[in-house]
This record gives sequence, C-alpha cells and structure tokens, in this order.
Amino acid sequence: MHEAFGNVADIVEAPVDGFVLDLGVSSMQLDQGERGFSFRFDGPLDMRMDTTQGESAADLVNTLPEKELADLIYLYGEERHSRRIAKAIVAARTEKPFRTTGELASLVRSVLPRGKKDEIDPATRTFQALRIAVNDELGELERALAGSERILAEGGRLVVVTFHSLEDRIVKNFMKERAGDSPSPSRHLPVMAAQGPEPTFQIMTKKAVDPSEGETRSNPRARSARLRAAIRTGAAPWPEEHGMTERGRA
Ligand SMILES: C[S@@+](CC[C@H](N)C(=O)[O-])C[C@H]1O[C@@H](n2cnc3c(N)ncnc32)[C@H](O)[C@@H]1O
Repeated sequence: MHEAFGNVADIVEAPVDGFVLDLGVSSMQLDQGERGFSFRFDGPLDMRMDTTQGESAADLVNTLPEKELADLIYLYGEERHSRRIAKAIVAARTEKPFRTTGELASLVRSVLPRGKKDEIDPATRTFQALRIAVNDELGELERALAGSERILAEGGRLVVVTFHSLEDRIVKNFMKERAGDSPSPSRHLPVMAAQGPEPTFQIMTKKAVDPSEGETRSNPRARSARLRAAIRTGAAPWPEEHGMTERGRA
C-alpha cells in the first residue's frame, strides 16, 4: 500500500497484533542514483521517498534562507559546522542553483576538513539532514507511534528499528512515556500528579537491541540499527493532546 506510515491509524483495520516500523531509506533506494539519496552517485538532488509529491532536496537547498538551512542541518544532521555549510551553499547557489548530489557533496567537502581515513564522509550529516527534512521523517515517526497505540490489540507488539539517534530518542521516549515511566516535569510536583493517563505500553527492551557482529559483517548497513519493542496494554489510547510532549522530544 503506497501510504505514509504516519497515517497508519486511518488506513489499517484495527485491531492488529503487531506493528513493525523499519525506518529510513532502503538499500534499493540508496543504490538508485536517480533517487538522489546518496553522494556515491552523481544523481538529481531529490531525496523524496514519495516522488509523486513534495519539495525535493534541491528545492530546500536552493530556496531556504541561510539561517533556516543552518538550523535544519544542525538539528537533523547534528552537524556542528552547519552555519559554515549553509553560508557556502547560499553563496554558491547565487552563481548556479544546485541540481545534483555530486555538486552538493563537493561543496560541503570543500568547506569541511576531511576527517581521518575511516571517518564518515564530510557530506554525510548534511545529506541525512536534508533527507529527514524533505520526508518529515521525525514527524512521520511521531504520528506512526501515536497511531500504533490506536491500532494495536491488547498484547499486540510494537517493534521499531531506527538508524540514527534522533529517531531512537523519539522511540525511547514515546515508549517510556506510554509506559508511565517518564520523570515528573517538576521536582515540586509529587510523582502522582505527574502521572499521565493509564500506561498503554509495557516496555520489552529495557535497552535498545543492537545488530549482532555477524549481522553487521554480512550487512554493514545494519551497523547503526537499533531495535526497541513494547507490548500494548488494554488501556485506552492517550488523548491526542498527549501527543509527544516536549519532554518526549528532548
Ligand atoms: C529501511 S527501508 C525498509 C526495508 C525493508 N524492511 C526491506 O527489508 O526491504 C524503509 C522503507 O520505508 C519507506 N518509508 C520511509 N518513510 C516512510 C513513510 N513515512 N511512510 C511510508 N513509507 C516510508 C522507505 O521508502 C523505505 O522503502
């Protein structure tokens, strides 16, 4: 079904016994230069998961104001040189708008010192940031998690595989919060007052499950994967206003 998983509660006939989210891009998409997800190929600067709609990475790179571009690269790429990259992008695009992954990757590499031999390519974080922004990946994830609460039967399993810390933090905090295990917002408030509605999930994975050495050897792309799982209780879904609280995003 060609549908955004953030709409899962509107498209799946509930209840279901399991909901598995395997986030991010697929190897197939990464290996197709024309999708523009990877700087291994010189393809169109697209990065849309759904190529039938939405702004592409080129649209963002060629139109966003410098500060917004820097914030996006910092927040979604956790890139500490975000301001320097955004400045260089804005300067270069006045000459010629960016069209390809190769153009953007070489621009980023030209302003960032090359790390040691085995360190990630300097363009990696900028590409991650643009991909997350183009596909609203964190917003989609939050909506899919809230949706899972509405479609899972009591005893149903929620399993999520994430590929970077921003995703993992949202999943971890959602499960903690829905398990009623999140810290009181203020030390002045007795614990009880902090309690939200009845817990809707019970955490199965106290710690995230990492790929085994064997798996990482046979599939190096699995190296940053982390799996978390929780069991749905019989409690009613939390009201919308209880979407991810700021705390859950922090
Ligand atoms: C990591 S891949 C899944 C790979 C799959 N498990 C396999 O083994 O081939 C994630 C897939 O989810 C899709 N995807 C990412 N975000 C999505 C969203 N918000 N809604 C629907 N599909 C999405 C991607 O296009 C990609 O095909």
